[in-house]
Amino acid sequence: MTEESSLRKMAAQVVAPTTAPSPGIGGSGVVLDPFILVIFGASGDLTAKKLMPALYHLYLQEGMPKDFIILGCARTPMSRESFLFQMHEAVRNHGPADLSRWTDFAARLYYFGLHYDDLQAFQDLSSFLQDLDQRHRMQGNRIFYLAVPAPLVPVIAENLNGSGLSQESEDGKGWTRLLVEKPFGRDLETARELNRILLRGFRENQIFRLDHYLAKETVQNILMFRFANAIFEPIWNRQYIEAITITAAETIGIEKRAGYYEQAGILRDMFQNHLMQLLALTALDPPALFKDTQVQDEKTKVFRSLKPFPVDDWPESLVLGQYGPGTIGGQTVNGYRDEPGVDPHSLTPTFAAMRLFLDNWRWQGVPFTLTSGKRLAEKKTEIVVHFKSIPHSMFREVIRETIPANRLTLGIQPEEIVTLEFQAKKPGPTADLQSVTMVFDYRQGKGAPLDAYEKVLLACLQGDHLLFWRQDSLELCWAFLTPILNACETCTFLAEKLYFYPAGSPGPAEAQGRLHP
Ligand code: BG6
Repeated sequence: MTEESSLRKMAAQVVAPTTAPSPGIGGSGVVLDPFILVIFGASGDLTAKKLMPALYHLYLQEGMPKDFIILGCARTPMSRESFLFQMHEAVRNHGPADLSRWTDFAARLYYFGLHYDDLQAFQDLSSFLQDLDQRHRMQGNRIFYLAVPAPLVPVIAENLNGSGLSQESEDGKGWTRLLVEKPFGRDLETARELNRILLRGFRENQIFRLDHYLAKETVQNILMFRFANAIFEPIWNRQYIEAITITAAETIGIEKRAGYYEQAGILRDMFQNHLMQLLALTALDPPALFKDTQVQDEKTKVFRSLKPFPVDDWPESLVLGQYGPGTIGGQTVNGYRDEPGVDPHSLTPTFAAMRLFLDNWRWQGVPFTLTSGKRLAEKKTEIVVHFKSIPHSMFREVIRETIPANRLTLGIQPEEIVTLEFQAKKPGPTADLQSVTMVFDYRQGKGAPLDAYEKVLLACLQGDHLLFWRQDSLELCWAFLTPILNACETCTFLAEKLYFYPAGSPGPAEAQGRLHP
């Protein structure tokens, strides 16, 4: 494969489907191996809303190899017909409108009911897979996708190991990969323990730890923007940058996930994964190649530079909040404590704004403010680079106000834009300035070629780890966050310092003034 990521090549090919189905994707040189995808949690929400629609859409776009099988596994006893019916409904509700090739696609779907703690059932699964392999010539290639709640991951991994399913075939022909959803532990120790369990059966390069933010187009664009242009890198450092803010604001609440969210809170749900990845992509040094190992090495260096958080003096660096009742989009919504399944006295934070620093040459002294919250006024994920003010104003005698500094915004979602704010002369006879904005619209009216789950599945099929977490990075981030989580969870501080904000607002006022530039 050349320097160009194989995933990029493939994405490009997929948007321009060939008229006749051809081997791999469009017969373009990147030919995908045949495979069996085993989805644990096949009767759950993730499979219905994301995975099956993504798989069918890929199939429609000629993005699947000629030979593949999808085997749904779950605890619910179900016939193949019932499974097919459920998946058809799932794709009808959440997938592409074109169902004309559903019957062909569905011919590759199977179902296998099992209890996750039953080793014998995994041995039976192994025989079932061997049988499918032989009948459909899958060459022993398998992906196990764990679309299950976190507590079930260890037992499934143990039984995949115990039944020999985690092993790759001895003749080196078939590969076996494991796709794991977050959360990867709930602190440093549990993350390490989970990893120990996974490594009993799988090698690190067989494990794909998923973070769907990495597969977002505009997140992938960060590296292209930074390193395919010569003009940004020379000023991308402490000499020219005053501060960086990274925001992932959501209007939705916790939906029906009280059980998970009460245990997680915003720091585990959004900071330990998505926001840390955005931070790394913004701050990393140029990787030598656009390849998984090189990019991950540079990210790891960023995480290794995280300055230990001042836990004893956290009000200066962290504001935590929880949403109360309010109005969003004209609709009255519950406060967090009134959500079904939530403790009415819960202290779980649904908002956090955190200022952190990187202890390295490039970023010394530059504050990075990371903010995320549920039930905020608008859905917006963006990275804003606040440049330093001009060192001296030659206009000081004609223009009294201070001249605003330049600002570069990488809009991740829903607005996929890059904007640069700068100053220009106001048209007219007087010497006045105005702030103006240059806007690049990422899509330019075109729809998304592939969604995040489709890209993640393709990357895993190719064995490309670019869109996934590596364990060393994960542990460095947990090492940074765990003392903060411990402080939150073991002292009475939170009871006094959890700021409540009305749903539909920008979050606690304390975060606005204190942490934002
Ligand atoms: C998930 C979190 O990982 O990301 C959710 O568990 C959150 O709580 C979601 O809503 C946000 O993803 P996106 O793509 O909508 O920004």
